[in-house]
Amino acid sequence: MERSPATPSIRGTPDAFATLMEITSRPSVVFVDGRGSWLRDQNGKAYLDFIQGWAVNCLGHCPDVITKAIAAQAGRLLNCSPSFYNEPMIRLAELIAQHSGLHRTFFTNSGAEAIEGAIKLARKWGQKYRDGAYEIITMDHGFHGRTLAAMSASGKPQWRQLFEPKVAGFPKVPLNDLAKVEQAITSRTAAVMLEPIQGEAGVYVASDAFLRDLWALTKRENILLIFDEIQTGIGRTGKFFGFEHAGVTPDIMTLGKGLGGGVPLGALVAHEDVCCFDHGDQGGTFNGNAFVTAVGCAVIDEIAKPGFLPKVVQAGAYLANRLETLSRKHGGSGVRGKGLLLAIDLGREIGPAVVAEALLRGLLINAPRPDSLRFMPALTVTHDEIDEMISILDATLRHVRDEHWQR
Ligand SMILES: Cc1ncc(COP(=O)(O)O)c(C=O)c1O
Repeated sequence: MERSPATPSIRGTPDAFATLMEITSRPSVVFVDGRGSWLRDQNGKAYLDFIQGWAVNCLGHCPDVITKAIAAQAGRLLNCSPSFYNEPMIRLAELIAQHSGLHRTFFTNSGAEAIEGAIKLARKWGQKYRDGAYEIITMDHGFHGRTLAAMSASGKPQWRQLFEPKVAGFPKVPLNDLAKVEQAITSRTAAVMLEPIQGEAGVYVASDAFLRDLWALTKRENILLIFDEIQTGIGRTGKFFGFEHAGVTPDIMTLGKGLGGGVPLGALVAHEDVCCFDHGDQGGTFNGNAFVTAVGCAVIDEIAKPGFLPKVVQAGAYLANRLETLSRKHGGSGVRGKGLLLAIDLGREIGPAVVAEALLRGLLINAPRPDSLRFMPALTVTHDEIDEMISILDATLRHVRDEHWQR
């Protein structure tokens, strides 16, 4: 059969996009440039961005520190193969160790790949030190990425029947329920893995008390504690890492998203005592290349500047306050989250309609659940930008509510 790039796909993708694989419903906007909290499309229309590549561009779009780091590193060295050390790789691992209290890092190209690494490391540890234990207890509604083991570890209800058979060995328990974790632990258990805040599930916070009790439980039972800090790490919650709120350090942590400030970079970070990979167990062509790790250094240098994180806390408190009022005004029950990872409840399942209408009005937000909106702006977002976002969202919510009344 003759095929042409102009042939519309079976799901009716407009011709211009027909050569891209259909994996989600995308609006027909094409973005061409961005700066700070703003994006611009091919027609010159500006959008206020409170998604930021799904909490990736922690310093906003194209900040000088990142574009300079990219230009400088691009002129020196991009990739010397993962079989050799490079300077930015060494420096970034040192920075992560210094700020996290953990000891060793393996760099990855995505969050899901860091999760795969965490699962492998925990299984290796279980094999070596816990009589072949391999199960990792994870949380209902948790999200750990889209590779097969990461999907298997996730507790997203819509994925239950997808891509069966999944990778075995991920019993699920409810978040914030220590008794259920305790009941799930057996001789097969190697680790417990969770997000300090369930971002994709709709921004549900693991309580500090739960994280502390979980830490004590895993120590008592001689199993590992893994925190998925892919969304909560690198300043997102107002601290360098989400676990700092509870004052407990995991044995293994995964990073992604903000670590690269927009370039694909993740990390598997672990305590010295659990780093038990043998040569050949872990690796990858692009892992730890000088180009992306140089960007990671620039990001961490910026976040570590005195005054940076206190400003995130201030901006987060301001945003939470304004969102709380807005949610209640429109019939919702308030705000959830920490720092600049926040969600509001809408009281009704109008999230997708609100997101679509906000886009038309030049605002990017996300609805992780039909009854909620999520906000993950640049960590450098200003009070003026927050005010502008609230004003657009207020008008959007009024419009969507009126439309719903008319039906
Ligand atoms: C908590 C968490 N873990 C893992 C992932 C997967 O990261 P990536 O999309 O970079 O593979 C995500 C992505 O949204 C995430 O939020």
